[in-house]
Amino acid sequence: MNFQLTEEQFAVKMAAREFAQNELLPGVIDRDRNMIHPTEQLQQMGELGFLGMMTSSEYGGGGMDTVSYVCAIEEISKIDNSCSVTMSVNNSLICTGLERFGNEEQKKKYLTKVCTGEWIGSFCISEPEAGSDATSQRTTAVDMGDYYLLNGTKNWITSGGTSKLHLVIAQSNPEKKHRGINAFIVESDWEGVNVGAKEDKMGIRSSDTHTIMYNDVKVPKENRIGDEGFGFKFAMQLLGGGRIGIAAQALGIAQGAYELASAYAKEREAFGKKIIDHQAIGFKLADMATDIEAARLLVMRAAQLKDQGLEYTQAASMAKMFASEAAMKHTTEAVQIHGGYGYVKEYHVERLMRDAKITQIYEGTSEVQRIVLSRKIEKDNLYEPMLI
Ligand code: CAA
Repeated sequence: MNFQLTEEQFAVKMAAREFAQNELLPGVIDRDRNMIHPTEQLQQMGELGFLGMMTSSEYGGGGMDTVSYVCAIEEISKIDNSCSVTMSVNNSLICTGLERFGNEEQKKKYLTKVCTGEWIGSFCISEPEAGSDATSQRTTAVDMGDYYLLNGTKNWITSGGTSKLHLVIAQSNPEKKHRGINAFIVESDWEGVNVGAKEDKMGIRSSDTHTIMYNDVKVPKENRIGDEGFGFKFAMQLLGGGRIGIAAQALGIAQGAYELASAYAKEREAFGKKIIDHQAIGFKLADMATDIEAARLLVMRAAQLKDQGLEYTQAASMAKMFASEAAMKHTTEAVQIHGGYGYVKEYHVERLMRDAKITQIYEGTSEVQRIVLSRKIEKDNLYEPMLI
Protein backbone atom coordinates (compact mmCIF):
# COMPACT_ATOMS: atom_id res chain seq x y z
CA MET A 1 0.00 0.00 0.00
CA ASN A 2 1.43 3.34 -1.00
CA PHE A 3 -0.04 6.69 -0.04
CA GLN A 4 2.89 8.66 -1.49
CA LEU A 5 1.67 11.03 -4.19
CA THR A 6 3.23 10.67 -7.63
CA GLU A 7 4.99 13.70 -9.10
CA GLU A 8 1.93 14.41 -11.22
CA GLN A 9 -0.51 14.16 -8.30
CA PHE A 10 1.71 16.42 -6.20
CA ALA A 11 1.88 18.98 -9.03
CA VAL A 12 -1.93 19.01 -9.25
CA LYS A 13 -2.17 19.57 -5.49
CA MET A 14 0.31 22.47 -5.63
CA ALA A 15 -1.46 24.04 -8.64
CA ALA A 16 -4.79 23.92 -6.77
CA ARG A 17 -3.16 25.38 -3.64
CA GLU A 18 -1.66 28.25 -5.61
CA PHE A 19 -4.93 28.94 -7.40
CA ALA A 20 -6.90 28.93 -4.14
CA GLN A 21 -4.44 31.27 -2.42
CA ASN A 22 -4.13 33.70 -5.32
CA GLU A 23 -7.59 33.68 -6.87
CA LEU A 24 -10.08 32.43 -4.27
CA LEU A 25 -8.81 33.85 -0.99
CA PRO A 26 -9.18 37.51 -2.03
CA GLY A 27 -12.86 38.32 -1.67
CA VAL A 28 -13.98 35.02 -0.14
CA ILE A 29 -15.32 36.71 3.01
CA ASP A 30 -17.25 39.28 0.99
CA ARG A 31 -18.70 36.68 -1.39
CA ASP A 32 -19.82 34.59 1.58
CA ARG A 33 -21.33 37.50 3.52
CA ASN A 34 -23.22 38.90 0.53
CA MET A 35 -24.03 35.61 -1.19
CA ILE A 36 -22.17 36.71 -4.33
CA HIS A 37 -21.93 33.89 -6.84
CA PRO A 38 -18.28 33.08 -7.74
CA THR A 39 -18.95 33.36 -11.47
CA GLU A 40 -15.51 34.64 -12.45
CA GLN A 41 -13.71 32.17 -10.17
CA LEU A 42 -15.65 29.21 -11.58
CA GLN A 43 -14.89 30.35 -15.10
CA GLN A 44 -11.17 30.34 -14.23
CA MET A 45 -11.55 26.91 -12.66
CA GLY A 46 -13.11 25.65 -15.89
CA GLU A 47 -10.26 27.09 -17.95
CA LEU A 48 -7.70 25.46 -15.65
CA GLY A 49 -9.41 22.08 -15.95
CA PHE A 50 -10.72 21.79 -12.37
CA LEU A 51 -14.33 21.18 -13.44
CA GLY A 52 -13.74 18.03 -15.48
CA MET A 53 -10.58 16.58 -13.98
CA MET A 54 -11.40 12.88 -14.35
CA THR A 55 -13.16 13.10 -17.72
CA SER A 56 -11.13 11.58 -20.53
CA SER A 57 -9.14 13.95 -22.74
CA GLU A 58 -11.12 12.66 -25.75
CA TYR A 59 -14.01 14.85 -24.52
CA GLY A 60 -11.86 17.75 -23.33
CA GLY A 61 -11.36 16.64 -19.72
CA GLY A 62 -8.17 16.27 -17.71
CA GLY A 63 -7.98 12.46 -17.85
CA MET A 64 -6.71 12.39 -14.27
CA ASP A 65 -7.18 9.86 -11.53
CA THR A 66 -9.39 10.20 -8.44
CA VAL A 67 -6.38 10.71 -6.15
CA SER A 68 -5.39 13.87 -8.11
CA TYR A 69 -9.00 15.02 -7.95
CA VAL A 70 -9.27 14.66 -4.16
CA CYS A 71 -5.92 16.44 -3.72
CA ALA A 72 -7.29 19.40 -5.70
CA ILE A 73 -10.64 19.43 -3.85
CA GLU A 74 -8.84 19.41 -0.49
CA GLU A 75 -6.79 22.47 -1.45
CA ILE A 76 -9.72 24.44 -2.87
CA SER A 77 -11.83 23.56 0.21
CA LYS A 78 -9.26 25.02 2.60
CA ILE A 79 -10.29 28.38 1.18
CA ASP A 80 -13.63 28.44 -0.68
CA ASN A 81 -16.28 25.76 -0.27
CA SER A 82 -18.81 27.44 -2.51
CA CYS A 83 -16.36 26.80 -5.34
CA SER A 84 -15.42 23.32 -4.15
CA VAL A 85 -19.02 22.10 -3.90
CA THR A 86 -19.65 23.17 -7.49
CA MET A 87 -16.39 21.48 -8.48
CA SER A 88 -17.41 18.29 -6.68
CA VAL A 89 -20.91 18.07 -8.17
CA ASN A 90 -19.69 18.94 -11.66
CA ASN A 91 -16.86 16.38 -11.62
CA SER A 92 -18.26 13.46 -9.61
CA LEU A 93 -21.92 13.54 -10.51
CA ILE A 94 -22.37 15.37 -13.80
CA CYS A 95 -19.24 14.57 -15.82
CA THR A 96 -18.90 11.04 -14.43
CA GLY A 97 -22.63 10.43 -14.88
CA LEU A 98 -22.48 11.39 -18.54
CA GLU A 99 -19.19 9.68 -19.32
CA ARG A 100 -19.93 6.42 -17.54
CA PHE A 101 -23.59 5.97 -18.35
CA GLY A 102 -24.43 8.29 -21.26
CA ASN A 103 -24.49 7.10 -24.85
CA GLU A 104 -22.15 8.45 -27.51
CA GLU A 105 -24.63 11.07 -28.78
CA GLN A 106 -25.27 12.34 -25.24
CA LYS A 107 -21.54 12.56 -24.57
CA LYS A 108 -20.87 14.40 -27.82
CA LYS A 109 -23.67 16.85 -27.19
CA TYR A 110 -23.14 17.57 -23.49
CA LEU A 111 -19.96 16.18 -21.95
CA THR A 112 -17.42 18.59 -23.45
CA LYS A 113 -19.55 21.55 -22.46
CA VAL A 114 -19.73 20.51 -18.79
CA CYS A 115 -16.21 19.16 -18.34
CA THR A 116 -14.70 22.42 -19.60
CA GLY A 117 -17.00 24.53 -17.42
CA GLU A 118 -18.72 26.16 -20.40
CA TRP A 119 -21.87 24.76 -18.80
CA ILE A 120 -22.20 23.97 -15.10
CA GLY A 121 -24.34 20.97 -14.16
CA SER A 122 -26.83 20.36 -11.34
CA PHE A 123 -27.78 16.99 -9.88
CA CYS A 124 -31.53 17.05 -9.22
CA ILE A 125 -32.58 14.19 -6.96
CA SER A 126 -33.65 15.81 -3.64
CA GLU A 127 -37.28 16.71 -3.14
CA PRO A 128 -39.34 18.24 -0.34
CA GLU A 129 -40.20 14.68 0.78
CA ALA A 130 -37.28 12.75 -0.68
CA GLY A 131 -33.98 13.72 0.94
CA SER A 132 -32.41 10.72 2.66
CA ASP A 133 -35.27 8.51 1.42
CA ALA A 134 -34.31 8.89 -2.22
CA THR A 135 -36.62 6.16 -3.53
CA SER A 136 -39.70 8.27 -2.64
CA GLN A 137 -39.51 10.41 -5.78
CA ARG A 138 -42.68 12.45 -6.39
CA THR A 139 -41.41 14.08 -9.58
CA THR A 140 -42.96 12.19 -12.47
CA ALA A 141 -41.79 11.58 -16.02
CA VAL A 142 -44.70 10.13 -17.97
CA ASP A 143 -43.91 8.31 -21.21
CA MET A 144 -45.81 10.14 -23.98
CA GLY A 145 -44.42 8.26 -26.99
CA ASP A 146 -41.48 10.27 -28.33
CA TYR A 147 -40.97 12.28 -25.17
CA TYR A 148 -41.45 12.16 -21.39
CA LEU A 149 -43.60 14.77 -19.66
CA LEU A 150 -41.73 15.93 -16.57
CA ASN A 151 -43.53 17.44 -13.57
CA GLY A 152 -42.36 18.06 -10.02
CA THR A 153 -40.23 20.05 -7.63
CA LYS A 154 -36.59 19.56 -6.66
CA ASN A 155 -35.11 21.16 -3.54
CA TRP A 156 -31.68 22.41 -2.43
CA ILE A 157 -30.19 22.18 -5.90
CA THR A 158 -26.53 23.20 -5.99
CA SER A 159 -25.87 25.71 -8.81
CA GLY A 160 -29.63 25.71 -9.45
CA GLY A 161 -29.69 29.32 -10.62
CA THR A 162 -26.69 29.16 -12.93
CA SER A 163 -26.45 25.61 -14.24
CA LYS A 164 -27.34 24.94 -17.85
CA LEU A 165 -27.66 21.18 -17.56
CA HIS A 166 -29.74 19.25 -15.03
CA LEU A 167 -29.51 15.53 -14.40
CA VAL A 168 -33.04 14.89 -13.16
CA ILE A 169 -34.20 11.79 -11.32
CA ALA A 170 -37.93 11.12 -11.72
CA GLN A 171 -40.51 8.37 -11.32
CA SER A 172 -42.01 6.89 -14.52
CA ASN A 173 -43.63 3.71 -13.14
CA PRO A 174 -44.71 4.15 -9.51
CA GLU A 175 -45.95 0.56 -9.28
CA LYS A 176 -42.37 -0.61 -9.89
CA LYS A 177 -41.12 1.56 -6.98
CA HIS A 178 -37.38 2.37 -7.31
CA ARG A 179 -37.15 0.18 -10.42
CA GLY A 180 -39.52 2.62 -12.18
CA ILE A 181 -37.22 5.60 -11.67
CA ASN A 182 -35.43 7.17 -14.65
CA ALA A 183 -32.61 9.69 -15.08
CA PHE A 184 -32.81 12.46 -17.69
CA ILE A 185 -30.64 15.19 -19.16
CA VAL A 186 -32.65 18.43 -19.07
CA GLU A 187 -31.49 21.80 -20.35
CA SER A 188 -32.30 24.67 -17.99
CA ASP A 189 -33.68 26.95 -20.71
CA TRP A 190 -36.34 24.48 -21.87
CA GLU A 191 -39.92 25.57 -21.56
CA GLY A 192 -41.42 24.65 -18.18
CA VAL A 193 -38.16 24.72 -16.20
CA ASN A 194 -38.64 27.33 -13.46
CA VAL A 195 -36.05 28.34 -10.91
CA GLY A 196 -37.21 29.42 -7.43
CA ALA A 197 -35.59 31.91 -5.05
CA LYS A 198 -31.99 31.51 -3.92
CA GLU A 199 -31.64 29.87 -0.49
CA ASP A 200 -30.12 31.99 2.28
CA LYS A 201 -27.86 29.35 3.81
CA MET A 202 -25.76 28.95 6.96
CA GLY A 203 -22.63 28.04 5.00
CA ILE A 204 -21.35 27.74 1.40
CA ARG A 205 -23.29 30.98 1.04
CA SER A 206 -21.97 32.10 -2.31
CA SER A 207 -22.89 28.88 -4.09
CA ASP A 208 -26.36 29.30 -5.54
CA THR A 209 -28.82 26.81 -4.12
CA HIS A 210 -32.38 26.88 -5.46
CA THR A 211 -35.66 25.03 -5.68
CA ILE A 212 -36.42 24.01 -9.26
CA MET A 213 -39.90 23.42 -10.58
CA TYR A 214 -40.56 21.32 -13.70
CA ASN A 215 -43.96 22.10 -15.18
CA ASP A 216 -44.93 19.99 -18.20
CA VAL A 217 -41.36 19.87 -19.49
CA LYS A 218 -41.07 17.81 -22.66
CA VAL A 219 -37.93 15.69 -22.37
CA PRO A 220 -36.99 13.94 -25.63
CA LYS A 221 -36.67 10.16 -25.37
CA GLU A 222 -33.01 10.37 -26.39
CA ASN A 223 -32.27 12.35 -23.21
CA ARG A 224 -33.03 9.42 -20.91
CA ILE A 225 -29.82 7.94 -19.50
CA GLY A 226 -29.55 4.17 -19.74
CA ASP A 227 -32.39 1.69 -19.98
CA GLU A 228 -35.92 2.33 -18.72
CA GLY A 229 -35.86 2.05 -14.90
CA PHE A 230 -32.10 2.58 -14.53
CA GLY A 231 -32.41 5.97 -12.77
CA PHE A 232 -32.15 4.86 -9.14
CA LYS A 233 -29.08 2.67 -9.69
CA PHE A 234 -27.57 5.49 -11.75
CA ALA A 235 -28.01 7.89 -8.82
CA MET A 236 -26.74 5.45 -6.19
CA GLN A 237 -23.64 4.52 -8.15
CA LEU A 238 -22.78 8.15 -8.80
CA LEU A 239 -23.37 9.18 -5.21
CA GLY A 240 -20.78 6.60 -4.12
CA GLY A 241 -18.14 8.53 -6.08
CA GLY A 242 -19.67 11.88 -5.13
CA ARG A 243 -19.16 11.03 -1.48
CA ILE A 244 -15.41 10.76 -2.05
CA GLY A 245 -15.48 14.36 -3.34
CA ILE A 246 -17.46 15.60 -0.33
CA ALA A 247 -15.18 13.65 2.03
CA ALA A 248 -12.24 15.48 0.42
CA GLN A 249 -14.08 18.76 0.87
CA ALA A 250 -14.58 18.01 4.59
CA LEU A 251 -10.90 17.08 4.83
CA GLY A 252 -9.92 20.42 3.28
CA ILE A 253 -12.17 22.33 5.68
CA ALA A 254 -10.61 20.56 8.68
CA GLN A 255 -7.09 21.05 7.33
CA GLY A 256 -7.74 24.73 6.61
CA ALA A 257 -9.09 25.29 10.14
CA TYR A 258 -6.13 23.42 11.65
CA GLU A 259 -3.60 25.55 9.74
CA LEU A 260 -5.30 28.76 10.89
CA ALA A 261 -5.59 27.58 14.50
CA SER A 262 -2.01 26.36 14.78
CA ALA A 263 -0.62 29.58 13.25
CA TYR A 264 -2.73 31.64 15.65
CA ALA A 265 -1.67 29.53 18.65
CA LYS A 266 2.00 30.15 17.82
CA GLU A 267 1.47 33.93 17.78
CA ARG A 268 -1.06 34.66 20.48
CA GLU A 269 0.21 35.04 24.02
CA ALA A 270 -1.74 34.58 27.25
CA PHE A 271 -0.63 34.11 30.84
CA GLY A 272 2.95 35.02 29.83
CA LYS A 273 3.49 32.52 27.01
CA LYS A 274 2.33 31.51 23.54
CA ILE A 275 -0.98 29.76 23.85
CA ILE A 276 0.38 26.68 22.03
CA ASP A 277 2.60 26.18 25.07
CA HIS A 278 -0.48 25.73 27.23
CA GLN A 279 -1.39 22.05 27.18
CA ALA A 280 -5.09 22.90 26.88
CA ILE A 281 -4.35 24.29 23.40
CA GLY A 282 -1.46 22.03 22.38
CA PHE A 283 -3.54 18.92 23.09
CA LYS A 284 -6.43 20.26 21.00
CA LEU A 285 -4.05 20.73 18.06
CA ALA A 286 -2.61 17.24 18.56
CA ASP A 287 -6.12 15.74 18.44
CA MET A 288 -6.97 17.78 15.35
CA ALA A 289 -3.82 16.70 13.50
CA THR A 290 -4.47 13.03 14.33
CA ASP A 291 -8.11 13.03 13.20
CA ILE A 292 -7.25 14.95 10.03
CA GLU A 293 -4.56 12.42 9.14
CA ALA A 294 -7.01 9.55 9.76
CA ALA A 295 -9.58 11.29 7.53
CA ARG A 296 -6.95 11.77 4.81
CA LEU A 297 -6.07 8.06 4.87
CA LEU A 298 -9.76 7.12 4.50
CA VAL A 299 -10.25 9.58 1.64
CA MET A 300 -7.11 8.34 -0.14
CA ARG A 301 -8.11 4.73 0.41
CA ALA A 302 -11.52 5.30 -1.19
CA ALA A 303 -9.94 7.22 -4.09
CA GLN A 304 -7.33 4.51 -4.66
CA LEU A 305 -9.94 1.73 -4.66
CA LYS A 306 -11.92 3.66 -7.27
CA ASP A 307 -8.80 4.20 -9.39
CA GLN A 308 -8.02 0.49 -9.20
CA GLY A 309 -11.49 -0.38 -10.45
CA LEU A 310 -12.36 -2.05 -7.12
CA GLU A 311 -15.54 -1.74 -5.04
CA TYR A 312 -15.41 1.60 -3.21
CA THR A 313 -18.98 2.36 -2.06
CA GLN A 314 -18.36 1.42 1.56
CA ALA A 315 -14.94 3.06 1.65
CA ALA A 316 -16.54 6.26 0.32
CA SER A 317 -19.24 6.19 3.00
CA MET A 318 -16.64 5.63 5.73
CA ALA A 319 -14.50 8.48 4.40
CA LYS A 320 -17.44 10.88 4.15
CA MET A 321 -18.84 10.01 7.57
CA PHE A 322 -15.50 10.28 9.35
CA ALA A 323 -14.14 13.33 7.51
CA SER A 324 -17.35 15.36 7.84
CA GLU A 325 -17.63 14.61 11.55
CA ALA A 326 -13.95 15.50 12.04
CA ALA A 327 -14.49 18.74 10.09
CA MET A 328 -17.42 19.75 12.31
CA LYS A 329 -15.62 18.87 15.53
CA HIS A 330 -12.32 20.50 14.68
CA THR A 331 -13.60 23.67 13.05
CA THR A 332 -15.47 24.19 16.34
CA GLU A 333 -12.19 23.66 18.19
CA ALA A 334 -10.40 26.05 15.82
CA VAL A 335 -12.95 28.74 16.68
CA GLN A 336 -12.39 27.95 20.38
CA ILE A 337 -8.62 28.36 20.01
CA HIS A 338 -9.16 31.76 18.38
CA GLY A 339 -11.38 32.85 21.30
CA GLY A 340 -13.35 36.02 20.59
CA TYR A 341 -11.56 36.54 17.27
CA GLY A 342 -12.89 33.20 16.08
CA TYR A 343 -16.45 34.39 16.49
CA VAL A 344 -16.20 37.38 14.18
CA LYS A 345 -16.56 37.29 10.43
CA GLU A 346 -13.26 38.88 9.50
CA TYR A 347 -11.50 35.69 10.64
CA HIS A 348 -11.83 32.71 8.33
CA VAL A 349 -12.45 30.00 10.94
CA GLU A 350 -16.06 30.91 11.62
CA ARG A 351 -16.87 30.49 7.91
CA LEU A 352 -15.13 27.09 7.85
CA MET A 353 -17.19 26.03 10.88
CA ARG A 354 -20.42 26.99 9.09
CA ASP A 355 -19.25 25.28 5.90
CA ALA A 356 -18.35 22.09 7.80
CA LYS A 357 -21.98 21.49 8.78
CA ILE A 358 -23.20 20.92 5.25
CA THR A 359 -20.66 18.13 4.68
CA GLN A 360 -22.61 16.10 7.27
CA ILE A 361 -25.82 16.67 5.32
CA TYR A 362 -25.45 16.70 1.53
CA GLU A 363 -24.76 13.67 -0.67
CA GLY A 364 -26.19 11.57 2.14
CA THR A 365 -26.29 12.57 5.82
CA SER A 366 -23.98 10.86 8.32
CA GLU A 367 -27.00 8.70 9.16
CA VAL A 368 -27.31 7.60 5.50
CA GLN A 369 -23.62 6.63 5.47
CA ARG A 370 -24.27 4.51 8.56
CA ILE A 371 -27.23 2.86 6.78
CA VAL A 372 -24.97 1.98 3.82
CA LEU A 373 -22.30 0.59 6.13
CA SER A 374 -24.54 -1.29 8.55
CA ARG A 375 -26.37 -2.99 5.67
CA LYS A 376 -23.07 -4.10 4.23
CA ILE A 377 -22.01 -5.50 7.61
CA GLU A 378 -25.32 -7.38 7.85
CA LYS A 379 -24.95 -8.77 4.33
CA ASP A 380 -21.23 -9.34 3.75
CA ASN A 381 -19.41 -8.51 6.96
CA LEU A 382 -18.07 -5.35 5.23
CA TYR A 383 -15.11 -5.50 2.89
CA GLU A 384 -11.73 -7.06 3.54
CA PRO A 385 -9.82 -5.03 6.12
CA MET A 386 -7.12 -2.84 4.59
CA LEU A 387 -4.27 -4.52 6.47
CA ILE A 388 -4.24 -8.20 7.43
N1 CAA B 1 -24.99 0.81 -6.58
C1 CAA B 1 -25.93 0.19 -7.33
N2 CAA B 1 -27.17 -0.08 -6.89
C2 CAA B 1 -27.46 0.32 -5.64
C3 CAA B 1 -26.55 0.96 -4.80
C4 CAA B 1 -25.25 1.22 -5.32
N3 CAA B 1 -24.31 1.83 -4.61
N4 CAA B 1 -27.15 1.25 -3.61
C5 CAA B 1 -28.41 0.76 -3.70
N5 CAA B 1 -28.58 0.19 -4.91
C6 CAA B 1 -29.78 -0.49 -5.43
C7 CAA B 1 -30.07 -1.73 -4.61
O1 CAA B 1 -29.37 -2.85 -5.11
C8 CAA B 1 -31.56 -1.89 -4.82
O2 CAA B 1 -31.83 -2.42 -6.09
P1 CAA B 1 -32.68 -3.79 -6.31
O3 CAA B 1 -33.88 -3.68 -5.42
O4 CAA B 1 -33.01 -3.77 -7.75
O5 CAA B 1 -31.76 -4.88 -5.90
C9 CAA B 1 -32.03 -0.45 -4.91
O6 CAA B 1 -30.90 0.34 -5.25
C10 CAA B 1 -32.63 0.06 -3.62
O7 CAA B 1 -31.65 -0.07 -2.62
P2 CAA B 1 -32.00 0.06 -1.09
O8 CAA B 1 -33.11 -0.89 -0.73
O9 CAA B 1 -30.73 -0.06 -0.32
O10 CAA B 1 -32.59 1.55 -1.01
P3 CAA B 1 -33.14 2.38 0.20
O11 CAA B 1 -34.37 3.05 -0.18
O12 CAA B 1 -33.16 1.56 1.45
O13 CAA B 1 -32.06 3.57 0.35
C11 CAA B 1 -30.13 4.82 0.84
C12 CAA B 1 -30.76 3.45 0.49
C13 CAA B 1 -28.65 4.50 0.98
C14 CAA B 1 -30.64 5.40 2.16
C15 CAA B 1 -30.37 5.81 -0.34
O14 CAA B 1 -31.72 6.19 -0.43
C16 CAA B 1 -29.54 7.07 -0.23
O15 CAA B 1 -28.35 7.05 -0.58
N6 CAA B 1 -30.13 8.20 0.23
C17 CAA B 1 -29.43 9.46 0.28
C18 CAA B 1 -29.63 10.23 -0.98
C19 CAA B 1 -28.53 11.22 -1.25
O16 CAA B 1 -27.34 10.95 -1.03
N7 CAA B 1 -28.89 12.38 -1.75
C20 CAA B 1 -27.91 13.33 -2.13
C21 CAA B 1 -28.51 14.43 -2.90
S1 CAA B 1 -27.44 14.98 -4.17
C22 CAA B 1 -26.51 16.20 -3.48
O17 CAA B 1 -26.51 16.43 -2.29
C23 CAA B 1 -25.67 16.90 -4.44
C24 CAA B 1 -25.32 18.28 -4.03
O18 CAA B 1 -25.95 19.20 -4.44
C25 CAA B 1 -24.16 18.52 -3.17
